[in-house]
Amino acid sequence: MTALTLTDADLADLAADAVVIGVLNGAAGPSLAPGSEAVDAALGGGLLAALGALGATGAEDEVVKLATLGALKTPVVAAAGLGQHTGAVTDEAVRRAAGAASRALGGRATVVSTLALVNGEPTADLLQAVGEGSLLGAYEFSVYKSKAAPAHRRPPSAVRLAVPSAKDRGAKTAAKRASAVVDAVTLCRDLINTAPNDLYPASFAARADRAGAAAGLTVEVLDEKALKKGGYGGILGVGMGSSRPPRLVRMSYKGRGAKTRLALVGKGITFDTGGISIKPAASMENMKSDMSGAAAIVSTMTLIAALKLPIEVVATVPMAENMPGGAAYRPADVLKFRNGTMAEILNTDAEGRVVLADAIARACEDSPAYLVETSTLTGAQVVALGLRTAGVMGSDDLRERVLAAGRRSGEGMWGMPLPPEVRTGLDSTVADFANVGDRSGGMLAGGHFLSEFVTDGIQWAHIDIAGPAYNTGSPWGYTHKGGTGVPVRTLLELIEDIAENG
Ligand code: BES
Ligand code: MN
Ligand code: ZN
Repeated sequence: MTALTLTDADLADLAADAVVIGVLNGAAGPSLAPGSEAVDAALGGGLLAALGALGATGAEDEVVKLATLGALKTPVVAAAGLGQHTGAVTDEAVRRAAGAASRALGGRATVVSTLALVNGEPTADLLQAVGEGSLLGAYEFSVYKSKAAPAHRRPPSAVRLAVPSAKDRGAKTAAKRASAVVDAVTLCRDLINTAPNDLYPASFAARADRAGAAAGLTVEVLDEKALKKGGYGGILGVGMGSSRPPRLVRMSYKGRGAKTRLALVGKGITFDTGGISIKPAASMENMKSDMSGAAAIVSTMTLIAALKLPIEVVATVPMAENMPGGAAYRPADVLKFRNGTMAEILNTDAEGRVVLADAIARACEDSPAYLVETSTLTGAQVVALGLRTAGVMGSDDLRERVLAAGRRSGEGMWGMPLPPEVRTGLDSTVADFANVGDRSGGMLAGGHFLSEFVTDGIQWAHIDIAGPAYNTGSPWGYTHKGGTGVPVRTLLELIEDIAENG
């Protein structure tokens, strides 16, 4: 992982491989962001003109590089676009610019970033954002590359943030926090990007066990025998088509001074073929990401332990592979869940809610004050909100707190209703309910199904991350192709809010 440190040295004296500055996009053309003064002075005040000549506009995701030709000890300046801002540049705009800069600086081992200075004296939040963006942009997943990447493509291995005072306690804390957050997001991305022949329920559970133990968490793994004994008919049903049996992972953490108990649940379908209601072949490979919710929950657990948050959290993570096969569950099957209710399966591709039903029921047995669940649950989420905005449903108060946490983290989220007429669409003639209704309001129907398993009195939220969890398009900002790590940073913001305010 890329190392993150602070520096208050004079930029003219620093010998790094590249220095990152910000460029604002204004109505009258590009302008240099604060923090670039020393670089501009070393270049004789010609930096903006040089960038203009190279076509820089200051637009988001734009990185223009120029050689310093001996004017600075650092041979390259990377000018990262911050976009248009009327007032202060937002933390998220800076996080993205920092990420784009890191992605553009392959082959530059040591990078100094001045982006924390774009609004003048940096706040702790902005410092953290620059740290996160710089490191997340330098993310690399190379376990399946048999040859090392060529030198010019290797991401930066060290990022130094230029700050007014490197000894400042607040600045040091912000940098440490950024590193901890990036560790968790990196774990999440790595789990998602791992091939499904390597990451299946038992191996995923083993990885969660290892990561949890290293973080000081208590971890329990229920195998298929334990699941049968525990009445987890949903997890077992979905897992039947696979030669690799399902698991349920439970991870617990109790911080010093904890006042509130929180339950976390994440969907861990290690591969979703759709089962007997099989998916089309096109893009099916993306369904290795159907465990992104589980990956985010496992990673968030390690993060709250690393940050020693004063809260009690128990994660319940169902893991199964949804395959067609001789033993697979089928449309018309009726499955009995942990809480005794039964559902008629009308589509084996709506498997996420089926494993989550058991997990949510189990999580509620611990009587948490809050339950937050996240899953790549519906294609309808992508239709409604696109690829970068998660849909948030659940109890009014908690849903709004999740949305506020999303605004703080910079991860896109939007609130969605659970209208009663969508719930009646799940009525079944043979069982308590069906696992699918008609196509209308598909994202909301998923939310309704899950709500059936939340015990009254527990505030809950469901975050559908079908689009934002996995980037099938081009890289942008600090987001690479593949697993993104959404919604780990929002969960952290939310959990800190709950730890503090109950
Ligand atoms: N894992 C999928 C949802 C999904 C789709 C995630 C696209 C990421 C990208 C889920 O299990 C699924 O197949 N849902 C069905 C539900 C339907 C059968 C009610 C869907 O969205 O088509
Ligand atoms: Mn499915
Ligand atoms: Zn799925």
